[in-house]
Amino acid sequence: MVYQVIIPAAGQGKRMGAGRNKLLLTLENIPVLIHTLRVFEQDVECSGIILSIHPHDQESFNELLTEYRINKVTNLVIGGKERQDSVYNGLKVIHSDGIVLVHDAARPFIRVDTIHELVKAAECSGAAIAAVPVKDTIKKVESLLVSETIERSSLWAVQTPQAFRVSILRKAHERAVETQFTGTDDASLVERLPHKVVIIEGDYDNIKLTTPEDLYFAEAIMKKRKD
Ligand code: CTP
Ligand code: MG
Repeated sequence: MVYQVIIPAAGQGKRMGAGRNKLLLTLENIPVLIHTLRVFEQDVECSGIILSIHPHDQESFNELLTEYRINKVTNLVIGGKERQDSVYNGLKVIHSDGIVLVHDAARPFIRVDTIHELVKAAECSGAAIAAVPVKDTIKKVESLLVSETIERSSLWAVQTPQAFRVSILRKAHERAVETQFTGTDDASLVERLPHKVVIIEGDYDNIKLTTPEDLYFAEAIMKKRKD
């Protein structure tokens, strides 16, 4: 059940518009980055964290790791232009096989139960991702005109963590480099191998902090979890 986790944290948080990496914003006085790292720091099954960072953040992130006593970070790697590059740079420092999770630093509310379910599923099938059924009706739109309504019953909104056998994720990233494919998540690279990807039902509150209103939702989730 032991796993390593790659945490891409090398973005710039442009849509949040905070003027700095959104991972440095605080929830109840603790940086978002630390909330996320603590989940893995405290999980005995997690054997190591590979943190992918932007060179601009190197100093401040290092200070935070010391201040909040995050001891499981085995590697700080420099991320790339796209999230996919940041994950791949993390993958390059893993030399053993086993299970690797990829989890966005911007999702601080991940539950350890979901992590363990994903690891178990990836041990059996090689690839498993957290997702929730879509609640809204989704339409395909071109030039502000609806071109199609997609049947909702088969739609799932995908989150992280995503769990993989290391050899499968490595092959998927190498193939993506060869074919110049960029996906918005790691599973999409694995699907193209092809390799089947199993869904584990996650939680609607495992939100990704992306735009400013997400901070209000995040405060509410923090409060609810304390009740
Ligand atoms: N990320 C990364 N490397 C990149 C881009 C993103 O490691 N080149 C990370 C982010 O730090 C974040 C996660 O991937 O933890 C999900 O990305 P996203 O929510 O898009 O964050 P940002 O890219 O920082 O935000 P934006 O797209 O609004 O600039
Ligand atoms: Mg981004």
